[in-house]
Amino acid sequence: MESLLREWDGETVIVRHDRPTRAWIFIAIHSTHLGPAAGGTRMKSYPDVQEALQDVFRLAAGMTYKFAIPGLPWGGGKAVVAIPPDFDPQSRPALLRRYGALVHQLRGLYYTGPDVGTSSADMDIIAETGAPYVFGRTPVAGGAGPSGPGTALGVFTGIQVACEHLFGEASLKGRRVLVQGAGSVGETLIEYLRSAGAEVLFSEVDEGTIRRFRDELELKFVPSEEVYTAECDIFAPCALGGVLDANTIAQLKCRIVAGGANNQLAGPKDAESLRARRILYAPDYVINVGGAITLLGLETLDWTQERAEEEVAESVRRALRQVFELAASEGITTEAAARRIAEEHLS
Ligand code: PHE
Repeated sequence: MESLLREWDGETVIVRHDRPTRAWIFIAIHSTHLGPAAGGTRMKSYPDVQEALQDVFRLAAGMTYKFAIPGLPWGGGKAVVAIPPDFDPQSRPALLRRYGALVHQLRGLYYTGPDVGTSSADMDIIAETGAPYVFGRTPVAGGAGPSGPGTALGVFTGIQVACEHLFGEASLKGRRVLVQGAGSVGETLIEYLRSAGAEVLFSEVDEGTIRRFRDELELKFVPSEEVYTAECDIFAPCALGGVLDANTIAQLKCRIVAGGANNQLAGPKDAESLRARRILYAPDYVINVGGAITLLGLETLDWTQERAEEEVAESVRRALRQVFELAASEGITTEAAARRIAEEHLS
């Protein structure tokens, strides 16, 4: 714990142990350089507290870069609510209200919204005590709804830009795309891809979701143990982070990696390995900003849904093209190029 805290390059971390549920709450403020920190609340179990802290640190930093690339006036933050494995779902609403009260106490240092393990319905509950610092409530409660569809649109645009760069055309007709995780982002991404004429494969761990996509939509299901060896044009990680490491990269049979998950690279060296294998990587935080843009635009700038979609597609297209150009002209990885652009905007 101590070394994690010492080595983190962020600004502040708020720690709360929730005694009634034995959950740990971490709110990491990575940077408020461009504006107040914003980022979703991730709620899940972790093998240990250190991993939860490490996750929130990396996720918060990812938000800083995500906002810096298009130059949005927001800083990077994230919250993790690490629940014990035997967590009683009945205690969830009360925990969310206590968490909302904590967000409220920060008086706008940190704005939250949905992320892995939390929904718009959860945001409604968090907002009972945490308003006005909560994005992504249900439309009935006055919010903009979930962030997944907006994120999916940005990822879809990113995939088109990557195809244009590598194959000379943005069209997805007949392209094979493997979507890892058919959750909030993955399910909408699959819709976009199918409408564009792509051949969609998916992998997923939830049985009900597998049945829905395999049996009802007749999509090809790829079991977890075959995800990294499946042949495809585009691999789109839309589940959890850390999926690209030395081991998985060596197995990949795709030309492009472009997905919605945060922190897809296990470590900095992995961007080099992808480049060495001539796999074009669309950096996660460059193309998964769509959820943030949508929520912030709809809820703070009075945008219409149509405007939000235009802004997402336009800003992902512009940013990713710039990243690919810089990477090619400097002979660096796309990850290094993205980092350079973000850091320029931060300085
Ligand atoms: N959790 C999503 C993300 O990582 C959406 C989100 C963005 C939620 C900004 C709140 C604030 O981008």
